[in-house]
Amino acid sequence: MIIKPINFSKLISSLILFISFSFNHYAQEVVITSDATSSDEGSSFVMTATLDAAIASGKALSVGVSNFRPHDWNLLQSAMETPLVTNQIEMSVLENSSFTNGDLAFLQERGIPPMAWSPLAGGLLFSDENPALLSLLTEIGNGDAASSSVAWLLAHPARIMPILGTNSLSRIKALSRSCSLPMDRETWFEIYTTAQGHEVA
Ligand SMILES: NC(=O)c1ccc[n+]([C@@H]2O[C@H](COP(=O)([O-])OP(=O)(O)OC[C@H]3O[C@@H](n4cnc5c(N)ncnc54)[C@H](OP(=O)(O)O)[C@@H]3O)[C@@H](O)[C@H]2O)c1
Repeated sequence: MIIKPINFSKLISSLILFISFSFNHYAQEVVITSDATSSDEGSSFVMTATLDAAIASGKALSVGVSNFRPHDWNLLQSAMETPLVTNQIEMSVLENSSFTNGDLAFLQERGIPPMAWSPLAGGLLFSDENPALLSLLTEIGNGDAASSSVAWLLAHPARIMPILGTNSLSRIKALSRSCSLPMDRETWFEIYTTAQGHEVA
């Protein structure tokens, strides 16, 4: 059997990493893109050493990744001393593949809270993409489909942290309702089933 060596350098180069800083109670996310053209085999080790050094020096409080599959996570983590704290994945009622493809389960098993990017599907939720789903979410959210969509993510035991995209203060304020909106399991699965468009076995 031939096992091909993994080009760690190229893999790392193709992925986006981000470092989360906490500064005076203000959370700021800094996106770092590694040199996509680098072919230096040692660059991955420089990268992981740099990330570890950023933590050790106090410049960063924690390191997370974005759009990593479980094997990507394991590969990077295996070369780092500092534990990765989160993975930013696309998650919403419309884009829910991570709920069944192992990405979410991988993090939940390790007790690592994932971040959900585009929790409202980038606004697509409010288009005619899935009218039945929008109608159901509006009803469950008492006229506010955005809040019930975010409540659906918050209700998952993986401790999902949605990253809201709107800059509208009134919309952000309205979305705080999602923290108190009741979401029992029956309702959760009704939303999931409607999003899938078929019964969930
Ligand atoms: N890691 C990655 O690969 C990746 C990829 C994409 C995004 N992200 C991150 O994820 C963040 C969120 O993504 P996103 O912008 O797609 O988030 P989102 O919250 O799913 O979508 C925000 C969009 O929904 C619209 N919207 C319509 N009705 C709304 C309502 N009632 N309440 C709130 N928003 C409403 C907003 O419009 P208005 O702006 O007019 O309010 C905005 O255009 C981004 O800022 C970025 O930091 C990460």
